[in-house]
Amino acid sequence: MEPAPPALLLETVSRRFGAVRAVLPMTLSVAAGERRALLGANGAGKTTLFNVIAGDLPPSTGQIRMFGQDVTRLPTQRRIRLGMRRTYQTSLVFAGLTVRECLFLAERGLGDRRFSWRRAAHCPEMHAADRLAERVGLERMRHIKAGALSHGEARQLELGMATAGSPRLLLLDEPAAGLSLAERHRLIDLLRDLPRSLTLVMIEHDMDVALQSVDRVTVMHNGAVVTEGTPREIAADARVHDIYMGKHGT
Ligand SMILES: Nc1ncnc2c1ncn2[C@@H]1O[C@H](COP(=O)(O)OP(=O)(O)OP(=O)(O)O)[C@@H](O)[C@H]1O
Ligand SMILES: [Mg+2]
Repeated sequence: MEPAPPALLLETVSRRFGAVRAVLPMTLSVAAGERRALLGANGAGKTTLFNVIAGDLPPSTGQIRMFGQDVTRLPTQRRIRLGMRRTYQTSLVFAGLTVRECLFLAERGLGDRRFSWRRAAHCPEMHAADRLAERVGLERMRHIKAGALSHGEARQLELGMATAGSPRLLLLDEPAAGLSLAERHRLIDLLRDLPRSLTLVMIEHDMDVALQSVDRVTVMHNGAVVTEGTPREIAADARVHDIYMGKHGT
């Protein structure tokens, strides 16, 4: 039997903005079901790479495959249909809606089908929304407005919204940014409990979060991949510590 294709395969993918070479030609392969962290100091090119993978920006060079399919020229919407989801560096939730309503909309999709909140109460997507609320530990907050959540809870809600509709490849951009220590531990637990069928690529500034949540780590610096390895290997790598201490040359 043919081995399963990687969930994500980048071949010589790069992105420049005029003279700024944000991502140099790089190769990256993430196996189906794997959990990968993307580590790197400010400006390393991590978010740019996510924008290119998600289809928010075209690459300057290279090819992107998801589950074996070439998506390089597919719009974001088509990549979403293949099971790709992403979150952003700052939380994006519907502040005026309740937790349950946010999760419901994520589950239902923002299609053009007409609906009313009154009828929505009994449809299958609302049950799915309640299961999502449980998954991200917000079952008791279901009727709270998203805008009234703490920063940590908003991140949990965002994770719930991103995992609606059974995605296969989830890209998280600094899910722990701005969280307290307790909130961060909660998030690490939630990430660990996500279904193993879900491939996870996570940008993380916080080494502890990254090293406790993933199978492998890719380290970027100045637009290039510096090294890749298991969390244990990365934690022991002097170059990685230099980058984080700002000692790495440019
Ligand atoms: N739209 C853009 N136009 C011009 N330059 C850009 C654009 N987006 C990013 N850059 C530049 O590309 C480089 C990489 O930025 P990027 O946001 O990808 O880094 P990052 O690794 O996500 O950093 P951070 O950890 O601060 O989020 C930076 O030098 C940035 O200024
Ligand atoms: Mg970024």
